[in-house]
Amino acid sequence: GAAGVGAADASGGVVVTTRLADRPATETDGLLRDAVHVLIDNWHGHSTVPSRDLYPHQWSWDSAFIALGLRRWAPKRAATELLSLFGAQWSDGRIPHIAFNPAVDPDAYFPGPTFWRSADVVGHPPIDTSGIIQPPVHATAAVAVADGLGEDGAAFARRAYPCLVAQHDYLRRRRSVGPAGLAAVVHPWETGMDNSPAWDTPLHAVPADLSLFDTYTRRDLEHAGTGERPTDEDYARYIRLALAYRDHGYDDDWVRAEGAFCVVDPTFNALWARAEISLADLAERIGADPSGHRAEAARLTRALVDQLWSAEAGVFLARDVRTGHRLSERTVSGLIPLVLPDLPAEVVGPVHDTLSSDRFRVGRVYGVPSFDLTDPRHDPQRYWRGPSWLNTTWLVAQGLRQHGYTDLATGLEDDIVALTAQSGLREYFHPLTGTGHGTDRFSWSAALLIEVLLSRR
Ligand code: GLC
Repeated sequence: GAAGVGAADASGGVVVTTRLADRPATETDGLLRDAVHVLIDNWHGHSTVPSRDLYPHQWSWDSAFIALGLRRWAPKRAATELLSLFGAQWSDGRIPHIAFNPAVDPDAYFPGPTFWRSADVVGHPPIDTSGIIQPPVHATAAVAVADGLGEDGAAFARRAYPCLVAQHDYLRRRRSVGPAGLAAVVHPWETGMDNSPAWDTPLHAVPADLSLFDTYTRRDLEHAGTGERPTDEDYARYIRLALAYRDHGYDDDWVRAEGAFCVVDPTFNALWARAEISLADLAERIGADPSGHRAEAARLTRALVDQLWSAEAGVFLARDVRTGHRLSERTVSGLIPLVLPDLPAEVVGPVHDTLSSDRFRVGRVYGVPSFDLTDPRHDPQRYWRGPSWLNTTWLVAQGLRQHGYTDLATGLEDDIVALTAQSGLREYFHPLTGTGHGTDRFSWSAALLIEVLLSRR
């Protein structure tokens, strides 16, 4: 990919997206039908795979986004999606980032069940899983699913609530760092934004041992081009980090004290804070006490602003726990905290300004680019190093709408429709041209398209 496309084109053309309101019903009905077909195709009987070829198991935060779309047309299926993920929860409360389907060849995906060895861990669930986690967006999806279920919503909430409480307790007890008590991630994959440039500095402190590929074979390159996926060097580092955590029995005391990668990420923590608000909502539906969840949301919101907000950068910046330094890259992760309703006005305004600036050009490109367009490392086709993704675009749209930036929010939803209409239900998209990249028939792209189309009807 051409690096620094934004730098080369900082004052360049403006992308004009067709508004959803101007698309004929015949067209949007067709888009909806295609999206539903993808979710039906990717359904495994109890959950949805992100993509049949590249990701043939159940992924944690994918399932939450998928449930958001599913509940609009098959709310019971949405409930099953989340409950089957909760079936993979460990006894310490962690919800693993992958729940492996025993019916799928263990070598179809790397790193698979024989790599993670979850069955060796005390308190493992009845199926094989990975040992790391992903952003805790599940309580927020659960509220939407409960709404979709109508009168069955309370019964679902009663089942989901204790699992979600345990998930959040795990973050508080086993992942919090420093006096502010934000949660640390111990592997870049835990952020869901695997090869974000924000992780370059901490990740490059991890040795890249390419001889690991004598033992292990990447499977992702069979399904997507090398220019669209992480490099071998970074992949070797990912493997090393995961092996070290595994070989210490997934012990969080060890990993917080000694793991090579330990970072506090804005989106991970913002979604946790947002999910505490959702838990308060669920608690109310089942007659439990919501006040503790509200207090947690307030505590986490304050901590995010105190610890990660950078007025100079105009974004939230991740913090490297090992060095104590802020990581200087401006990425979409630093903008998603806009989803928090109680973010102070002194933060909301500047986040909006950054989104509108040449760094992200929201309203003038497709979606929200995953990385600063003006940074020379911006790579518009490589995974989390530049392309626009639909889940992060949708989260930013939610945040903008919440804080009264209705036109910009609507424009981002229009982009979600425009990108998929032009390029299909791809995994990620070139922010300037809208071309699709990564895998195709990608479930959260389908689910969030459904959510946008049906929420705007
Ligand atoms: C990639 C993405 C991650 C996602 C997974 C499955 O690893 O970076 O966010 O959960 O694929 O779609």
